[in-house]
Amino acid sequence: MKLLVMNGPNLNFLGIREKGIYGTQDYADLVSMLEEKAAAEGHELEVFQSNYEGGLIDKLQEAYHSGVEGIVINPGAFTHYSIALRDALASIEVPIIEVHISNVHKREEFRHVSVTAPVCTGQVVGLGLRGYALAMDYLTQSDAK
Ligand code: DQA
Repeated sequence: MKLLVMNGPNLNFLGIREKGIYGTQDYADLVSMLEEKAAAEGHELEVFQSNYEGGLIDKLQEAYHSGVEGIVINPGAFTHYSIALRDALASIEVPIIEVHISNVHKREEFRHVSVTAPVCTGQVVGLGLRGYALAMDYLTQSDAK
């Protein structure tokens, strides 16, 4: 299966930013964990990160044109206010799982709202970096398509 894992702003700072919330594993650890998993299971995976809203939108559109079959996205703070990213996610008929490393519902009220979740297939919240792997499992093991 052809998969894309996307991360939004500041997720390249994993292992540096707010370790009590996001843990001590860094972004490179996340990428290698996902690449090893995809390789072991025989899936084609691209892992992408951008601090820019437009960068994420461009990648989604590019992935659509290149035939992506499943997307895992942690939009970071864009989750809470980016209508442009929501519209981009809504544009493509590909299963999309939204992931949050932290339990956003236990945190500040502004994090309780996701403008992107309603246009995603489902959401994994608060399970740390394992959430990405679980989201990949859903896409590859179910009839999500
Ligand atoms: C996050 C939660 C967001 O509220 C925050 O802005 C992030 C990370 C998470 O993975 O828990 O950057 O998406």
